Amino acid sequence: MRVFTGIQPSGTLHIANYFGSIKQMVELQDSNELFMFIADYHALTSLKDPKALRENTMDVAISYLSLGIDPSKTTMWVQSDVKEVLELYWILSAYTPMGLLERAHSYKDKVAKGILANHALFSYPVLMAADILLYDAQIVPVGKDQIQHVEITRDIAIKFNNDHGEIFTLPKFKVDESVASVPGIDGAKMSKSYGNTIDIFMTEKALKKQTGKIVTQSVAMEDPKEYKDCNVYELSKLFMNDDELKELQERYKRGGEGHGHFKMTLKEKIWDYFEEARTKRAYFQEHTDEVMDILNEGAKKASHLAKEKMQLVRESVGIYR
Ligand code: ADP
Ligand code: TRP
Repeated sequence: MRVFTGIQPSGTLHIANYFGSIKQMVELQDSNELFMFIADYHALTSLKDPKALRENTMDVAISYLSLGIDPSKTTMWVQSDVKEVLELYWILSAYTPMGLLERAHSYKDKVAKGILANHALFSYPVLMAADILLYDAQIVPVGKDQIQHVEITRDIAIKFNNDHGEIFTLPKFKVDESVASVPGIDGAKMSKSYGNTIDIFMTEKALKKQTGKIVTQSVAMEDPKEYKDCNVYELSKLFMNDDELKELQERYKRGGEGHGHFKMTLKEKIWDYFEEARTKRAYFQEHTDEVMDILNEGAKKASHLAKEKMQLVRESVGIYR
């Protein structure tokens, strides 16, 4: 299966990004053809700082490579390296009813939050459709907020195919229901926008500080504690095997330790868990030329597919060459 995903270069990755998405990608690349690109054109809808966009683009590539994306299995590139996507975006725009975009939740939500909408934000789903359709993606793993964008992609593809024959493959979205929502340090869903994240590549000192801030019940040191629904325990579940969890449960039940002790244990587990990724990241940060080579190689492969598809599309609509 050709599995396809776009990542917004929007800054620091947190542990919920890892357990909610990146880990699945790393597993998927073994038995599928994984295509992964960094959506820098999409990021322009909200990010207007050129230095930050440039740095985030490289940073996200380095992070994914460090966390296990293997360029010998996965095609990874930067969206703007394959300009055909913008041509397809325009052509698809002519097959996109306004109503389809006006109904998009993600657009409506942003406007409701008072974000001043520009045209790119409104037409964001058409560019996303171009990403997906250009490369004949079959499966698009998404978070719930992105399901509608894949449905819009299908609608646009069906409209185009009705007029011109089977030019585009209809993609299916895939939501991994087995992934529970990871709580943040305040117990609400972990999210950049809530400022409650634990970031993957924090310094040890910052990690200690952040895990120290996890909200817990206030119970006297000597008393037994409830591990169910405790934010520290919920986060520990991601990093511990069954035996370790049993032992942690015993420590909660026994009393004599405060939540601060459980937080320290969690901090150690998180720190160890990402140790290999940290080492790889430090390596890539020193060898950005290798990262560029990987992105260039990915762009070459993606470009080849994009050129083939665009030839068909141009012929279909009457662009003269
Ligand atoms: P944020 O809410 O921090 O902006 P994103 O929307 O960029 O995060 O998330 C990217 C992906 O990471 C999501 O599609 C989802 O798969 C995963 N993810 C983010 N937050 C969580 C969470 N709290 N629990 C589980 N998965 C999450
Ligand atoms: N909209 C996606 C997000 O915000 C990123 C994205 C852009 C994407 N194009 C895509 C995801 C194509 C999957 C397929 O997360």
